[in-house]
Amino acid sequence: MDSLREIDDVVRVPNPYYSIKAKTQSGDNVHALVMERLDAVSLSDVIEGRENLPENFNIDLFFSSLENFFTKMHKEDIFHRDAQDRNIMVGKNGEPFVIDFGNGKKMYFGDEDPYREFDDIKSKVTYFTDDFEFLKITKRKLKKYIDNI
Ligand SMILES: Nc1ncnc2c1ncn2[C@@H]1O[C@H](COP(=O)(O)OP(=O)(O)OP(=O)(O)O)[C@@H](O)[C@H]1O
Ligand SMILES: [Mg+2]
Repeated sequence: MDSLREIDDVVRVPNPYYSIKAKTQSGDNVHALVMERLDAVSLSDVIEGRENLPENFNIDLFFSSLENFFTKMHKEDIFHRDAQDRNIMVGKNGEPFVIDFGNGKKMYFGDEDPYREFDDIKSKVTYFTDDFEFLKITKRKLKKYIDNI
């Protein structure tokens, strides 16, 4: 961190991860955040028939646990903003994992809407889907899949 001249934005990733600084074969310096490999399958792989849900999977428990997680995150002013099926995984015991914080946002004092971003360079506004709204859509999608198998 000492070598940074100016930090534009910081997003705290609440999942366990490693910060790795390394040199590539060709000598370039890279800095990567690496997450542990989860023993889990993504909901999109389940819905699209590539993976199975664990036995005794309880959709209501699964989503209420996710809602608790997002509530805690929002209290810390962290917004995921991409809570769709392929960024949510289910573990061997039916427990949820949230991955891919690539669109994540940490709000600071003075920031207005976590789901609206203005790009100064492109003069363009980007809107993100509300985390809880996305969870509802994702739950509906998974429920439809479960009802049809
Ligand atoms: N930590 C992890 N452990 C196990 N599998 C993972 C992990 N992170 C990602 N994956 C798998 O890789 C897929 C893509 O990961 P991720 O969402 O981080 O990348 P992405 O570039 O945003 O891809 P996508 O456009 O599909 O969302 C996930 O749907 C999941 O199946
Ligand atoms: Mg993703």
